[in-house]
Amino acid sequence: MKVGILTGGGDCPGLNAVIRAVVRVIHNAGGECIGFLDGWKGPIEGNWVPLKAIETDEIIARGGTILGSSRTNPYKSEATVAKLVANYKTLGLDALVAIGGDDTLGVAMKLHDEQKLNTVGIPKTIDNDLSCTDFTFGFDTSINIVMEAVDRIRTTAESHRRVMVIETMGRNAGWIACFSGIATAADFTLVPEVPVDIEKMCHVLLERRAAGKRYGLIIVSEGVKLPKGGMIAKTSEIDEFGHERLGGVGDRVAEMIQERTKIETRCVTLGHLQRGGPPSAYDRVLGTRLGIHAAQLVIKQQFGRMVALRGLHIVDVPLAEAVGTNRTLDLAIMEEAEEFHK
Ligand code: F6P
Repeated sequence: MKVGILTGGGDCPGLNAVIRAVVRVIHNAGGECIGFLDGWKGPIEGNWVPLKAIETDEIIARGGTILGSSRTNPYKSEATVAKLVANYKTLGLDALVAIGGDDTLGVAMKLHDEQKLNTVGIPKTIDNDLSCTDFTFGFDTSINIVMEAVDRIRTTAESHRRVMVIETMGRNAGWIACFSGIATAADFTLVPEVPVDIEKMCHVLLERRAAGKRYGLIIVSEGVKLPKGGMIAKTSEIDEFGHERLGGVGDRVAEMIQERTKIETRCVTLGHLQRGGPPSAYDRVLGTRLGIHAAQLVIKQQFGRMVALRGLHIVDVPLAEAVGTNRTLDLAIMEEAEEFHK
């Protein structure tokens, strides 16, 4: 049995834990694994490395992905799909395990449905916005990074009696912002799923200042749409899957707060810090469990499926069910965060 593995899309902590687990379970079953380099670019260009169980044991503690990643879309042309399929066949692969977000898994689904390749998907993203799974690995590490950053920002905010706006990642979903807002006792959290009320937010800040609080903390998700404006894109560049690069809404929110409250306000955009460094214990365990179950699907020859977390258990669902619709923030959780907006 020969199994290819790749990691696609934005990297996230926990990817190496997944790779290690897939390699180990396939090795235990008498098979071998190879790793494709830089996302879908690897199988298109035929770039790969052998993956041995003994050599991948320690990678669990490393952030990023030892295989590299990219936002390459094989479906940009028929020729690249043909190259990928030819390489899969020449290498004599029995299966391909794709670890990625909606875009990467969408490609895995099409390769299974249209090209009859044996693909299995594993969901990953710090954004936690994938359907059919309760949590994605990477998310826990990322909210802990935001929490640590905000705990530091708090002390300087307090010293200078400032309001600090912290812009988080998350694309169109407010999971990172909402969980970070709760964990850091933010005064207000703005997420893409809830219309922005700048006046109410400024009122809360002024009221708390009048009551004696020296500083203010506002968490803003990068995908927030300001009143009478859309999302703010950092550049006009669009990636191969048609996504804009977001960023900059935090600066705009800081300006609006300062204009209205006259309190000195600064913005910190956390950016890629949120995806860097070693994975948390939770993400190592979740990644490992997903990797084990994905490898077991390969051994049982159940393809076109994605492994997922449901409650405490790892289940699997058809890739077709999981891709195409992003899972936005559960509004019941946001309502809990909003108890502290009053
Ligand atoms: O999907 C993960 C993510 O980190 C988003 O939160 C963010 O908008 C995007 O990727 C950034 O992508 P890039 O690393 O390509 O700038």
